[in-house]
Amino acid sequence: KEIFEQPRALEDTLRGRVSLESGDLEAAEMGVSVEDARAVKRVILLACGTSYHAALHGRYLLESLARVPAVAELASEFRYRDPVVGEGDLVVAVSQSGETADTLAAAKEARERGARLLAVVNVQGSAIARASHGTLYTHAGPEIGVASTKCFTAQLAALTMLAIHLGRARGALTADKGRELLHEFVQLPHKMRDALAASRHVESVARAVMHTRDALFLGRGLSSAVALEGALKLKEISYVHAEGYAGGEMKHGPLALVDRDMPVVCLVPSDSTLEKMLSNVQEVRARDGQVIAVLDDEKAGAGLAAHTLKVPRTIEWFTPLLTIIPLQLLSYYVADLRGTDVDQPRNLAKTVTVE
Ligand code: M6R
Repeated sequence: KEIFEQPRALEDTLRGRVSLESGDLEAAEMGVSVEDARAVKRVILLACGTSYHAALHGRYLLESLARVPAVAELASEFRYRDPVVGEGDLVVAVSQSGETADTLAAAKEARERGARLLAVVNVQGSAIARASHGTLYTHAGPEIGVASTKCFTAQLAALTMLAIHLGRARGALTADKGRELLHEFVQLPHKMRDALAASRHVESVARAVMHTRDALFLGRGLSSAVALEGALKLKEISYVHAEGYAGGEMKHGPLALVDRDMPVVCLVPSDSTLEKMLSNVQEVRARDGQVIAVLDDEKAGAGLAAHTLKVPRTIEWFTPLLTIIPLQLLSYYVADLRGTDVDQPRNLAKTVTVE
């Protein structure tokens, strides 16, 4: 249900915030004025779990669209290593619940040391929102499933808005470029609906791989965070051991795992990573691995794949909002076919309020 609510969650997150005329965002609630945006020397994104994967995406967009140095940090590590953080840093705490203990503590620590704190949270009035100078709410609605799905794509959208806002304020993005990006951005809910319409096909692929013990997920560039998130979804709800890797790391170890019994989900959208990803696909095929290709163009690598999961085409920056959908569905169907509880996986809590 929540996977299928994503187009609506995205529409609600964008509503009233996008100005197609000016190519900019209505950004007052963020508490990051144009002057603040210009004064930012570095952005530090803090988060855990799925929200951390959204933060990795945010880092990429902030660097490419706003040309501001950005890092994504696991909140649970950041707070214990006496970090160098203070004035000039914009710290962005990303959290569905707004209550995750490690993210809250790390964010408060950064604020105490002089950073400006922005919350990207889903729950109104949550602890992280209250501790921050400004809040950019994801309007995904209540998320009950322990595995985060609609909040993930809403976080990607919110961080994209932040990157466009900073890019416009800092002069890294022209009004024309801003308009071009936002025109495509508002098309994404329709494209998400198209991606969701392929759910029966994803179910058939899930049937083909449901008995596997392990799986690999590979992506490069913006798709590397999608690979991590796809692997997390599968392990979380189906208990299949899954690893997400940046494609370039394959040769540095994981390739040793590939044999005929290993499904390898390869993210091969037709973007700047395509050629390199196709070499990864070939490396996997050469070891008899079963490639499941997530693509937006049938011609790209489909001949090498045992299965393909097709999504509509969009521009590179927005591709993860679409390519994650078949991976969420795949995890859902594998879990359902294996008879595990997709809403409440064993050993996990929706919100981790202890350290
Ligand atoms: O509420 P938060 O976004 O701060 O939660 C962070 C993680 O606990 C959360 O994303 C967790 O990894 C999910 N179960 C992933 O589906």
